[in-house]
Amino acid sequence: TCQKRRDFIGMALTGVTAVGGVCALGAMKKSWDPLPSVQSAGFVTVDVSTIEEGEARSFAWRGKPIFVLRKSADTPKNAKRDVVIGEKVFTLVIGLCTHLGCIPSYDAKQKSFICACHGGVFDASGINTFGPPPRPLDIPPFKIAGETLVLGEEGEEYKKL
Ligand code: FES
Repeated sequence: TCQKRRDFIGMALTGVTAVGGVCALGAMKKSWDPLPSVQSAGFVTVDVSTIEEGEARSFAWRGKPIFVLRKSADTPKNAKRDVVIGEKVFTLVIGLCTHLGCIPSYDAKQKSFICACHGGVFDASGINTFGPPPRPLDIPPFKIAGETLVLGEEGEEYKKL
């Protein structure tokens, strides 16, 4: 790919420094990318073992934000949506508002995902409870493997939801 970039850049620019810079950037970018096999299959492994009660963390999967919230004991459960690993109960959702696709954020005090764009609110299970969102936050396909979630694979637990 470096050679291709060099050819392309060569057409647009001249100068050894610019070409060298682009190649170095290309090499750096390559090291940030996941393994090609992982990328092409679209799987991402998310370790949920260190998420504290009441904490929501975000990850990326297929270019989309993913939220994993570990429900605290006083957060209402939802048997149709909860991801249960041992004693721990999680909400796993794609972090794109079902109204027009803004990225909501989790408010731990209100135990809700709030979308700032038009005031949409989703409860801690990702169910739309207020404002314009027409349906709950989507759940990405997942598989449970120990205390990790494999996003992109349709495990038994996903099929049951
Ligand atoms: Fe979230 Fe409109 S995009 S409420």
